[in-house]
Amino acid sequence: MDSSETQSPTVTQREQWMVESQVFQMYELLSSVPRNAQSVLLELQRDKHIEFLTNGLRQLGPSFCVLDANRPWLCYWILHSIALLGDSVDDELENNTIDFLSRCQDPNGGYGGGPGQMPHLATTYAAINALITLGGHRSLSSINRGKVYTFLRRMKDPSGAFRMHDAGEMDVRACYTAISVASVLTILDDELVKGVGNFILSCQTYEGGISGEPGSEAHGGYTFCGLATMVLIGEVNRLDLTSLIDWVVFRQGVEGGFQGRTNKLVDGCYSFWQGGVFALIQKLHSIIEEQLRLLDAGGSAIDSPQLASISCHSGKRGLHDTSGSAKFSNIGFNFLKEPAEMEPLFHSIALQQYIILCSQLQEGGFRDKPGKHRDYYHTCYCLSGLSVAQYSYSKDADSPPLPRAVFGPYSNLLEPIHPLYNVILDLYHEAHEFFSTS
Ligand code: FPP
Ligand code: ZN
Repeated sequence: MDSSETQSPTVTQREQWMVESQVFQMYELLSSVPRNAQSVLLELQRDKHIEFLTNGLRQLGPSFCVLDANRPWLCYWILHSIALLGDSVDDELENNTIDFLSRCQDPNGGYGGGPGQMPHLATTYAAINALITLGGHRSLSSINRGKVYTFLRRMKDPSGAFRMHDAGEMDVRACYTAISVASVLTILDDELVKGVGNFILSCQTYEGGISGEPGSEAHGGYTFCGLATMVLIGEVNRLDLTSLIDWVVFRQGVEGGFQGRTNKLVDGCYSFWQGGVFALIQKLHSIIEEQLRLLDAGGSAIDSPQLASISCHSGKRGLHDTSGSAKFSNIGFNFLKEPAEMEPLFHSIALQQYIILCSQLQEGGFRDKPGKHRDYYHTCYCLSGLSVAQYSYSKDADSPPLPRAVFGPYSNLLEPIHPLYNVILDLYHEAHEFFSTS
């Protein structure tokens, strides 16, 4: 008799069994209905999602007052979801959103959670991604890039990491939101980058994933933020990518979806946080191969002279680059040109099946897992993860996915994203062109 038969189960074990049983009921339901009646379960309910999302952008009920400091996030989650579905909002809603976000912009730079609130890195990232998602001159020119730069410099700690707000906490999220925003606005420079890589490295844990701050537990949200940051600053070769892969491949569970950390429950939002990690890893094959070669040769996977000489756009800044923001401004752009040489290291169809059958609600919107309510955060990150999974077999993000990569009818196909910023690919290109030339 092994010890698991004599000890009573933990709360987490009981919760895990409950989730598994609810998820398997959904999968059994699919296999029990005749083939010609399956389509309603397999289809993305586009019109219902757009109705749920557009209503939320127009007006929210009193229960949303708890999100009063997150209003730019609501704009981003909703607008990005609509854009992933291939749609956009009408002119009036677009203009109202631009005006609202302008009122969230602090006179000294950065965006707060609402008009008059203190500027914060998370809401700055959300506001800028929302404005890029709206696109067009009025939206993009509403961002005061000079003032955003001043704000980012103020959030920079002498250690190199970033604080979320004045006197706020320093973590991997703050580093990602600061670097992502600076990169997409083409204002990233040596001063902003200095020391960030060391901080992210100090957060890679013994498991291989990345934690929010040194000494904490590896988590999908922070692993995405840390990995994307290292790519954007041209230092991804400094991470131990082999152990990061070892960690992330075990985060996909029997349900098909991802968990955020070891021994925790599946959750639809990790479809993007973990799925996005795979999308980045696929384009880092040359660095990963070299790290594996060094390990095979009995050395360490990281910090070797051989590795530093690898020519990968995203692994290391080119030797002939100039100084200042020009050195960094094209890293995010060039990353797209890296071919996805390896097959995805996760089960793309199983992930899509979890999102469509277990996270999607027929009345519109997505949720964490069966039994939970829909919300805009989970709608945004389930759809972002679905897009990443659908394009995971494509060589380039904007090339059409192979038929085997789309679960359900082909009409479920979403727009592709730029995996470093999580904005729609075409809208990223528009913004890159606008900010590189203005
Ligand atoms: C754990 O919650 C969640 C965290 C520790 C934070 C996760 C971080 C992100 C989602 C990234 C944020 C990124 C940006 C750009 C702001 P939990 O304990 O409720 O969930 P769990 O059981 O699934 O770990
Ligand atoms: Zn979640």
